[in-house]
Amino acid sequence: EYDILDKLPFKGKKILITAGPTYEAIDPVRYIGNHSSGKMGFAIANAAANLGAHVYLVSGPTNQQIQHARIHKVDVVSAEEMYLAVHACFKEMDVAICAAAVADYKPKITATKKIKKTAEPLEIQLTPTKDILASLGVLKEHQFLVGFALETDNALENAKAKLKKKNLDLIILNCLQDKGAGFATDTNKITIIDQNLNTINFELKSKLAVAEDIMNEIVLRVLK
Ligand code: CTP
Ligand code: CA
Repeated sequence: EYDILDKLPFKGKKILITAGPTYEAIDPVRYIGNHSSGKMGFAIANAAANLGAHVYLVSGPTNQQIQHARIHKVDVVSAEEMYLAVHACFKEMDVAICAAAVADYKPKITATKKIKKTAEPLEIQLTPTKDILASLGVLKEHQFLVGFALETDNALENAKAKLKKKNLDLIILNCLQDKGAGFATDTNKITIIDQNLNTINFELKSKLAVAEDIMNEIVLRVLK
């Protein structure tokens, strides 16, 4: 019998993808968040599933919809929840792609009751969240690990430093100076950097096409 799945390059592979923003609670009604739409991460999840992979998509709060037999979505809110969901499955994964815009800081204390306004300035103390991607770089064994770098200046240099520091196999640079790149847009312009610090520049494209480019580069390296 002919099975079309047999022809797909990532058949049987397990891929973990993080996507979207995280929300860090200040009190029961307020949070610290960011403008990540989740579009890039969800597009990568679709592209990976279309290559035959089983996808574990760990997503922060987004409006994105996804429907694919091979995509299992886990919804999280905070960086800590994302960290726990990712670590619950990382060992079994073949590839991990961290596309989430994880908050770098969270309130040191989350108030249990709504904070009432006063005439005085309000100070909220922040404390760093866990770096999920860096923690995977430490644990990594057989896994192929991919991160993103969002930069405005010194982009190439900063991205290369992140690749090395977090023990990645590939880093996708998003430079916010590039027109049409960024959070709310449907397009993106990326540069991919590998472990030898070779760079590949891509044209401005739809996020769906960018996701296919990213998955192609990963397939080439994982299957070689
Ligand atoms: N990342 C993560 N957990 C965090 C922060 C970042 O997993 N707490 C991941 C992102 O998903 C991305 C990569 O790390 O794949 C780089 O994120 P970025 O914000 O560009 O870099 P940071 O290391 O957070 O440094 P900075 O924001 O200071 O540039
Ligand atoms: Ca950051």
